[in-house]
Amino acid sequence: MASNPLDEARAAALQEASRTPAYKKVRRVDPQESPVAAKEPDPELPLTLIPKERYTSTEFMRLEWERMWSKVWLLGGPMSDLREPGDYIATDIGKESILIVRQKDGGVRAFYNVCLHRGNRLRPEGASSADSFKCQYHHWDYEIDGSFKRIPDLDTFPQGAPPCRGLTELPCDTWGSFVWFSLDQNVGPLKDFLHPVDQHLAPYNFHKMALTRDVTVEWDCNWKTSVDAFNESYHVQGIHPQLMWYLHDIDLQIDCYERHNRYLIPFGTVSPRVRKPPTIPDPIKVIMKAAGMDPADYDEPIENIRRDVQRFKRKHGATQGKDYSGLNDDQLTDDYHYLIFPNVTLNTHADDLMLFRQRPHATDPNKMYYDIWTFELVADGAEWPERPKHQRFLHGDKSIGLVLDQDSQNLPGVQAGMHSAGFEGLWLGSQELRIRHFHKVLDDYLKKPQA
Ligand code: FES
Ligand SMILES: [Fe+2]
Repeated sequence: MASNPLDEARAAALQEASRTPAYKKVRRVDPQESPVAAKEPDPELPLTLIPKERYTSTEFMRLEWERMWSKVWLLGGPMSDLREPGDYIATDIGKESILIVRQKDGGVRAFYNVCLHRGNRLRPEGASSADSFKCQYHHWDYEIDGSFKRIPDLDTFPQGAPPCRGLTELPCDTWGSFVWFSLDQNVGPLKDFLHPVDQHLAPYNFHKMALTRDVTVEWDCNWKTSVDAFNESYHVQGIHPQLMWYLHDIDLQIDCYERHNRYLIPFGTVSPRVRKPPTIPDPIKVIMKAAGMDPADYDEPIENIRRDVQRFKRKHGATQGKDYSGLNDDQLTDDYHYLIFPNVTLNTHADDLMLFRQRPHATDPNKMYYDIWTFELVADGAEWPERPKHQRFLHGDKSIGLVLDQDSQNLPGVQAGMHSAGFEGLWLGSQELRIRHFHKVLDDYLKKPQA
């Protein structure tokens, strides 16, 4: 059937009305000057439905565990929790719990967090410090290098001590002020796994950023339902309309790499979906003030603010004790937003990092653990703030901030809806390319021939 030209014109007008021409495009850094800004060619991926069972089925969850979670590198925690010998992080992933421990020789090692006597967990989740790891049940004691320290009444074990040196060790490595581990004894190098994100993020000086928030919330959704929610900006107009007054949510640059992906979100500008505001929106004033500018003095058009914040930070960063020298201009304002496959979301800014770690529940595909770690750049010479206490609660028990509350309230409904007979799977658009790519990478693991 031939299309109706009137309908076409109406559709075009509607589309135009949803944008404000003055804000249609944002200036971007030239990749010639900053290769990290280069656009990756989009992958050619089939436009088929993503089956909902990937989010709801225990069988799929089991496959993920066997073929993906137990094969990849996983984020363990910030190195700032491992300053002295004996400092440790106990972190759970699915049915496992891992102890990551700073050694006397300065190295960092990871062990299964389980006593070799009767299987008791040695330490609950969290970061702390220990001289040794004594199991609370019968007091088997392990050195911080995992070796046996003492087995009470060893002479009552006719078979002797277990035929190993102590706790079962796992691959462990560090990058970007974070410690990583893998459940795969044969995993390849961490650096290869992270490529190219490790190179992209190197200039951000994560080692100068202090942890300022450490929260875990149990959410009633699959871990991928959460990953998806941060991998597209399409829902900003639906769930977070307030964001449209300080960021550009459409026509984003999306880059998909071998495993990981990203999009670049311009901040300090308004969405093309809103009409040009008569005065500087309050959230943009906040961005200007954070840079050291006074919005009351600003007399240029609003569309120049992002550029001028970049210039201001470039000019005054050094005197503010902030080293922006390795960052391009866009990185001074924008969110370079990465997913490190499978479960680490990084909202990367020049002065802060908001990191989400999405962890699967041990047995239920409809539940997950959502970790929020916020880091803030500490200016040279300024005092390093005290580490915040870890908070843990159920969805809805406490606010996690307006934007994340909006996501948090939305996601259980998405998970519940996926169980409906009226829904078959995800119908994704081009703004959701990262989700499609994420599932492709997941499939690469699930379909890998098993040894
Ligand atoms: S289970 Fe740990 S000492 Fe018995
Ligand atoms: Fe969101």
